[in-house]
Amino acid sequence: MGALGPLGLCVLAACCAQSPGPSPLRPRGCNDSDVLAVAGFALDSINRDRRDGYVLSLNRVHDAREHHQENLGSLFYLTLDVLETDCHVLSKKAWKDCRVRNLHDSVYGQCKAMFLLNKPRRVLHSLAYNCTLRPVSRRKIHRMCPDCPSPSPIDLSDPSVLEAATQSLEKYNSESPSKQYSLVKITRASNQWVVGPAYFVEYLITESTCTKSQGSSCLLQLSNSVPVGLCIGSLTRGPIEKFVTVTCDFFESQDQNPGGENSAVETLPGMEEVPQGKTAPTNAPSQTPPRGSVQYLPDLDDNKPEDGRETDPQEAFPVKLDLTTDPQGEALDVSFLFLGPEEQRLLVLPFPGEGQRSAECPGPAQESSPLVLPP
Ligand SMILES: *[C@@H]1O[C@H](CO)[C@@H](O)[C@H](O)[C@H]1NC(C)=O
Ligand SMILES: *[C@@H]1O[C@H](CO)[C@@H](O)[C@H](O)[C@H]1NC(C)=O
Repeated sequence: MGALGPLGLCVLAACCAQSPGPSPLRPRGCNDSDVLAVAGFALDSINRDRRDGYVLSLNRVHDAREHHQENLGSLFYLTLDVLETDCHVLSKKAWKDCRVRNLHDSVYGQCKAMFLLNKPRRVLHSLAYNCTLRPVSRRKIHRMCPDCPSPSPIDLSDPSVLEAATQSLEKYNSESPSKQYSLVKITRASNQWVVGPAYFVEYLITESTCTKSQGSSCLLQLSNSVPVGLCIGSLTRGPIEKFVTVTCDFFESQDQNPGGENSAVETLPGMEEVPQGKTAPTNAPSQTPPRGSVQYLPDLDDNKPEDGRETDPQEAFPVKLDLTTDPQGEALDVSFLFLGPEEQRLLVLPFPGEGQRSAECPGPAQESSPLVLPP
C-alpha cells in the first residue's frame, strides 16, 4: 500500500503542473467531414431555437476548434458563415431543405456557436450561439450589373407595404374555398419599378375566425396569434390596372411533438432514433429561454462615402459569444444532458480568436461570391 502513495502524488503533480500549459483547443480543418457534420447539426439546432426570421443555411465553416473532455465528449467552438433561406424558422424545416435567396436578395453573415457532441451518449447540444446578418451590398450588386432589375429592401412600416400585404391576402382569401386568414406580421418587403411601382412582401398569417362574407374587414389580427403559414405576395400598379399575386406555404403542425424543438438529444446518422421523452428535458419550449440571438445590421455600404475604404473586418460582422472571460475557463453543469445520476461538469473557455486557427480554414463555400462572404 505504502508504495502507491508516492505514485499517487506523482500523478497529481503531473496533472496540476499542466493546467497553465498550452490551450486544450485543437484547431480543426474547416473541410473535414466530421467538422462539416457538426457544423450542420449546430445550425439545425440554432434554427430550431429561433422564433423569428428565416432559416439560416451553412455557406462555409469559417473556423473550428475542438475541446475533447473525458466522458463528456467534444465541445466545438464554431464560426460559421451563413446565408438566409426563404423558409421561415416557424416552418421548422431543416436548412438543407430550404432554398438560399438569389444573390441580389441575399442576407448573409456569421454565427458563433458552442456545440457539445458525444456520439456514444447521443448528445448533440448547442450551449449558446450568436449571429450577425446584413443584406448584400446594393452598391456592389449594382456595380456588377447596372441594368439588372433588382428590388430594393424597404422599411416594413411603409404604408405601401401593408397595402401590398392586405391586397394579396385578400386575393388569397377570395380564392380559398372556406377558411379565411388574417395577417400576423410582415417579415420582408422590397420594391422596384416595373410598369409602375411594384411592392413585394412576405408575411405570416393565422387562421381567422371571420367568415368569407365578412371580406376584407378582418384581415388584420393582433400580432400575438399563432402563425400557420408564410405568404409571398406582390402588388404592381400599372398605368391602367393593378396586378396582385400571392402564394402561401403552410407550416406543418407542430403540436404532435411537444418539447421536441428544444430537445437536447438529436439523431446522428448511424445513430438510432432516441425515443422522445426519454432524454429530452421536460420543460415546455416556451419556458426555455433562447440560447442565443440573431442581430440584423444594415447594408455595409449604407452611410459610407462613395470612395469608401473597406470597413474593418472586425466591425463588419461583430459576433460576441463568451460564456466566461476567465482564461482558465469555467465549469458548467451539463448533467441534464446525460442520463446518469452523477454530476457532469463541462469546462467552457472564452471563445477563441482567429489566431492559431487551422490553415485549412475557412473551408470551401457553397456560394463563393465575395459579396456574401464575411471578411
Ligand atoms: C450575444 O450577443 C448579445 C448581443 O450582441 C450579447 O448581449 C450577449 O452577451 C451575447 N451572448 C454571449 C453568450 O456572449
Ligand atoms: C473538401 O473536401 C472534399 C471531400 O473530402 C474534397 O473533394 C474537396 O476537394 C475539398 N475542398 C477543399 C477546398 O479542400
